[in-house]
Amino acid sequence: MKIILLYGGQSAEHEVSIISAHTICQLIMYGYYQVQPIYLTKDGRWLKGPLLEQPPTSVKQLTLEEGQEASWANSDDEVSYGVAINPGEIQEPDVIVFPVLHGPNGEDGTIQGFLEVLNLPYVGAGVTASANGMDKIISKSLFDQIGLPQVPYVAFNALDWRTNEDEIVQRCEGSLIYPLFVKPANMGSSVGISRVENADELKAAVNLAFKYDRRIVVEQGIIAQECEVAVLGNDDAHVSVVGRLVKQQDFYDYNEKYINNTVTMEIPADLPESVTARIQEYALKAYRVIDGRGLSRVDFFVTSNNDVYINEINTLPGFTPFSMYPLLWQETGLSQRDLIEELLQLALRSHETKQMLKQPLNH
Ligand SMILES: Nc1ncnc2c1ncn2[C@@H]1O[C@H](COP(=O)(O)OP(=O)(O)O)[C@@H](O)[C@H]1O
Ligand SMILES: [Mg+2]
Repeated sequence: MKIILLYGGQSAEHEVSIISAHTICQLIMYGYYQVQPIYLTKDGRWLKGPLLEQPPTSVKQLTLEEGQEASWANSDDEVSYGVAINPGEIQEPDVIVFPVLHGPNGEDGTIQGFLEVLNLPYVGAGVTASANGMDKIISKSLFDQIGLPQVPYVAFNALDWRTNEDEIVQRCEGSLIYPLFVKPANMGSSVGISRVENADELKAAVNLAFKYDRRIVVEQGIIAQECEVAVLGNDDAHVSVVGRLVKQQDFYDYNEKYINNTVTMEIPADLPESVTARIQEYALKAYRVIDGRGLSRVDFFVTSNNDVYINEINTLPGFTPFSMYPLLWQETGLSQRDLIEELLQLALRSHETKQMLKQPLNH
C-alpha cells in the first residue's frame, strides 16, 4: 500500500508540518508501505516528490523545489525536486492519505472535504470534526452544550466590532477580569493571539486578531497549569495518560513553542487521581461532541484548587520529536511506530464504514 503524505501547506505552521512529516516518515513500516511525499508550498503549489522506500535522511530533504523530474538531494548542499501536479492527481487505487497539515487549510476540514470528494481513505478527523475543532467559537459553544467547564468568554465578528466597538469593550469588561486573551476564531500555534491588561491593549489586540479572521473570541485569562491528553480511535476512542507543560512564562508564542522549544513536558503529570480522571472524561466527551475520528489532543487549564477547564481540541496535533501527542501514547504503552500503524488502520476502517453507508438501501 502507498501512503500519500501531504505536508507543508500555506498556514503559519508550515515548518512544524515538515518536521512532523519527517518524524512520521521515520516511523512507517517500509516493508508494508511506500510513501509518496506531496509537498504543499507556501504559495500553494503541490509538488510530488520521489517515492520513499526508506526514511528520508533529513528534514531538509523533504523541502522540495519545483523541477522537471522528482529527485532526492544526496547531501545537505543539494536540493530535492518535486514535479508540480494538480491536487486531484493524487487519486489512485490502494492509497491512504496522511494529511500532516496544521492550521487553516489543513486542519480545518478543507483538505478533508477535498479527500472526501476524491473518495480516498485519510488519517484523522473528518470534515465536521476538523471544522468544529479548529473554530474556537464553534467548539466553545459545543462544549457549553454538554456542560464542559470553560473560562468565561465573549465572541463577536468584524461587523459587530465596527458598529459597536464601545459596547463590546464594555461587555468584555463587565463579564471578564483582566488580563484577557484575544484570539482569532480560526488559527493555531498562538498566531494572532494577545494577552491584554487594559482597554487600549484590548482594542489593539482585537485589531491585530482581525488580520487573521473575521471572528474573534476574548477570554478570561487565568493562572493555571496547562495539561494535555491524547485521544485515539473512531467511535470507540480511548485516552492516554495526562501530560503537563512545564512553563517558564505565562504565554507561549509561536517562537517559544516551536522554534526555541523552551517548553518541557511532564508525562504523566503529577496530578491528583481525580483531576486526571476528570481530564480524561472531559477529553472523550469533547472528542465525541465535535464528532472526532482518528486522533486529537485535548488541552486543559488546571488551577491551584484543581478546577479543570477545557481550553481547546486539536484534531491534527504536532508530531515532531518534541510533540506531546506521540509522547503521551508512548508513556501510555503504545510505541510511536504502533501509533502510526493504528492511525492508518483507523483511516481504512473509517473509509470502509463510509463506503458501506454509501450503498443504496434495498427496500
Ligand atoms: N484564557 C487563558 N488564560 C491563560 N492563558 C491562556 C488563555 N488562553 C490562552 N492562553 C495561553 O495562550 C496559549 C495559546 O492559546 P490557545 O488557545 O491554546 O491557542 P492555539 O490554538 O494557538 O494553541 C495557551 O497555550 C496558553 O499558554
Ligand atoms: Mg493551544
